[in-house]
Formats: sequence, C-alpha cells, structure tokens
Amino acid sequence: MIESKCGLCHSVSIVYSYDGNKSWEHTIYAMKQRGLSLTNDEEANILKKLKKIKKN
Ligand code: HEC
Repeated sequence: MIESKCGLCHSVSIVYSYDGNKSWEHTIYAMKQRGLSLTNDEEANILKKLKKIKKN
C-alpha cells in the first residue's frame, strides 16, 4: 500500500528513510496538497503502516 500510494510521485525510499520531525499526519496532509488522493479508510490504514516505520 505504501508502494502503491506513496511511490507515485517519488521513490518510496524517501518514505522509508524519512527522518524529519514532521508527524505522518502532517506529511500526509502535505502530500494531499501536492495531489495525493486517499479515502478516509485508506488514510487510516496507511497511517498505521507509516507509524510502524517511524513512531511520531
Ligand atoms: C501527488 C504526488 C505525491 C504523492 C502521491 C506522494 N508524495 Fe510525497 N512528495 C511529493 C513531492 C512533490 C515531494 C517533494 C519532493 C522533493 O522535494 O524532491 C514529496 C516529498 C515527500 C517527503 C520528503 C519530506 C518532505 O516533506 O518534503 C516525504 C517523507 C514524503 N513525500 C512522503 C510521502 C508519503 C508517506 C506518501 C504516501 C502517503 C507520499 N509522499 C505520496 C509528492 C507526492
């Protein structure tokens, strides 16, 4: 899911190696501003997966 949703505009390695101090909630919001589209269910799901990569 991370691959299919977050690999559209950039490599997914940008996601796995992200070590900034912004929360995933903020990052998803920023990606939506850039054109990402997710249903509420998809967003909840992907947040759960992202938080396993990095807790914030
Ligand atoms: C509609 C296109 C698009 C999609 C889909 C997308 N991104 Fe991005 N993302 C961008 C752009 C544009 C940048 C800025 C790239 C750069 O600076 O080289 C970026 C940068 C990032 C960065 C680097 C930090 C930052 O804030 O600049 C992270 C982390 C990131 N994206 C995470 C995600 C995640 C997680 C998803 C899936 C939920 C996602 N992206 C899906 C367009 C997108």
